[in-house]
Amino acid sequence: MNQRPAILIARAVFPDVVARLREHFEVETNDEDAPFTPAQLIERLQGKVGVLTTGSERIDAALLAACPQLKVVCNIAVGYNNFDVPAMTAAGVLATNTPDVLTETTADFGFALLMATARRITESEHFLRAGQWNRWALDMFAGAEVHGSTLGILGMGRIGQAIARRGAHGFGMNVIYHNRSRLDAESEAACRARYVSKVELLQQADHLVLVLPYSTESHHAIGAAELAQMKPTATLVNIARGGIVDDAALAVALREKRLAAAGLDVFEGEPCVHPDLLDVPNVVLTPHIASATLKTRRAMADLAADNLIAYLGRGEALTPLNAGLPNPRC
Ligand code: DGY
Repeated sequence: MNQRPAILIARAVFPDVVARLREHFEVETNDEDAPFTPAQLIERLQGKVGVLTTGSERIDAALLAACPQLKVVCNIAVGYNNFDVPAMTAAGVLATNTPDVLTETTADFGFALLMATARRITESEHFLRAGQWNRWALDMFAGAEVHGSTLGILGMGRIGQAIARRGAHGFGMNVIYHNRSRLDAESEAACRARYVSKVELLQQADHLVLVLPYSTESHHAIGAAELAQMKPTATLVNIARGGIVDDAALAVALREKRLAAAGLDVFEGEPCVHPDLLDVPNVVLTPHIASATLKTRRAMADLAADNLIAYLGRGEALTPLNAGLPNPRC
């Protein structure tokens, strides 16, 4: 008789990670990699004690009630807005995420998106591919300066600080930031960043990068009113989560040139993208790939698997979000 605990891997992951998990558990995979509906996820989780999730799987009170054997949910992501953590804590289910392993890779991408946006790289490439380049002109695709300009960062966690370091040390930028709590003096000095109010950030940034977590408080943190406070020459980059920016309001501001350009890796309701954003030329759009290097995605999957093995094996995860559960499911 099979005594090993059963787990689900909700989306396709690297075969060696699956093989490693099979050494410990009965593993059900989703080789088609089609995201489950909430009802399908509940069905697949029957009899499972653990699950590896991505941002596409919502873990809430209804799911937890319908899956009484579930003990641990390990997100292959640092963001965890797909988790209702208080509901998980109340149900005695451990939640984990994948911090640190993606910090530098995600910061690299944030900077790449900033550069592409400010220097109009994709817009000019589309022009070239369309056969429209028939002469050179002095002001052709003239964009915004990056070096020496003011870099604003909203959300100054690990990734925000890594972007700040790139801006300050690599590009000689004047870095300002706003965050729920101010960094200590040593951390501010390491990334040469100055704390300002949100209004000052909006008004002073030449390039504003969003790196804050999504929550009901940060929903539409950048809407029509905030966009109106930004410089018309400014660029906006969102590598955080869809829903932090009001995409409809942003499309209007971009079309009316009240904002020079935007770079977006995340969208409200992704993978759907607001149709108005697809129609404006001054926006760079990428499909939620900020952490997507093979090395980093492997490290994220490995850490999620390690969390699952550690919690189900010895009751302690490596990167828990709700450690010290008062009533863990046993
Ligand atoms: C993360 O790790 O949160 C990335 O956005 C991938 O979901």
